[in-house]
Amino acid sequence: MACPFFTDERLKDGQNGGTLDGEGNEDTPCMSYRNYLQLDQLLDCVKPTSEMFGKELVHDEHLFIITHQAYELWFKQIIFELDSVRKLFSSEAIDENRMLRITSRLNRIVVILKLLVDQIVILETMAPLDFMEFRRYLSSASGFQSVQFRVIENKLGVKNEHRVNFSKEKYITVFPDKKSIDMILQSEEEPSLCCLVQKWLERTPGLEKDGFNFWKKFEDSVQAQIETLKTQIELETNERIKEELKTEHSQKKETFEGLFDIERHNAFVARGERRFSHRALQGALMVSLYREEPRFNQPFHILTQLTDIDACITKWRYNHVLMVQRMIGSHKLGTGGSSGYWYLRSTLSDRYKVFVDLCNLSQFLIPACYIPPLTPQMKYRLSIKEESKRSE
Ligand code: HEM
Repeated sequence: MACPFFTDERLKDGQNGGTLDGEGNEDTPCMSYRNYLQLDQLLDCVKPTSEMFGKELVHDEHLFIITHQAYELWFKQIIFELDSVRKLFSSEAIDENRMLRITSRLNRIVVILKLLVDQIVILETMAPLDFMEFRRYLSSASGFQSVQFRVIENKLGVKNEHRVNFSKEKYITVFPDKKSIDMILQSEEEPSLCCLVQKWLERTPGLEKDGFNFWKKFEDSVQAQIETLKTQIELETNERIKEELKTEHSQKKETFEGLFDIERHNAFVARGERRFSHRALQGALMVSLYREEPRFNQPFHILTQLTDIDACITKWRYNHVLMVQRMIGSHKLGTGGSSGYWYLRSTLSDRYKVFVDLCNLSQFLIPACYIPPLTPQMKYRLSIKEESKRSE
């Protein structure tokens, strides 16, 4: 029986048992669980190749396929959330009421990624010998050709120049079809989350040179801290402690010179060791130092979540490479044509960490007693939402 309310294919066929909401009515039209989730099509996609070639089913191939499909479904959800977060970040001035929406969606991405890190252990219940039983059927198929994985990387902000090329080939060359290539090229061209986050951080209230001028105050505070350390060294009589203080002093000086000198910062960026613009880095530091001020609470959460995203993907890469070594060892080529284990190991470096500047931010944090005090105007600006101030 066709459903009178919608023309969706799923609602045309009332033959499947079990409705989602009991009997259909105007608000909840007739719809079965099976139809709603298109389970016939979904479950029909589990087709072990060992069986397709007219041979006996290799038991573990079933798990292998389901695991990869589950990953791809979650990748789809991550892309969906990423797109919505990117859209929220896209406007010139972000309505601060939207902050909660951004943090909840970023949090969802982090939770899914944690699941994906853990999910690897299920596949590890497969013994290498069992994998060998069906590996030849994969032919040249490899996770290497996961379009969605590349789209996630690009939408987050992994840049082509930071990628590890395999066999001197660009990552896109492994995709033979136009649809995949178009999807990837489009994701390369769209503004990445990293790019949008930087623009947002560059607008951090308090960075204005003709206003609170956080950066000048921060630099003065750091100088004061370094001077105090110098005085401590001069007064110290214990030689061992004196040496330790000297090391601390020169390390601090070196670290902060690399932060305050824009040319040195740009050199770090050119080498791929930093990604953020200098002003975005200033914003991130300001948010971190004054995170307890009401208007910085949510931004601070966002910075933490972005760091978590990088950390989770790195953990996934690590767990995946361990599993690869366990399954095929370190000297077998991958089905996708790379050196396998060694190629994957090279992707574990910081070059794939989009928010590496946030991960490294802690080196620039200073003790609470040195944090420049907020002026009453600045305290007020950070105390309430822009919206409520505007309506006053
Ligand atoms: C027995 C299990 C697995 C083995 C032996 C394996 C092996 C490999 C190998 C050797 C590569 C390097 C490319 C190549 O030459 O093929 C690779 C890449 C990749 N695999 Fe797997 N894999 C396994 C499971 C998975 C699973 C469950 C996923 C989840 C989607 C996955 C996703 C990926 C991705 C996204 C890449 C590209 C990584 C990059 O280039 O940074 N793999 N895999």
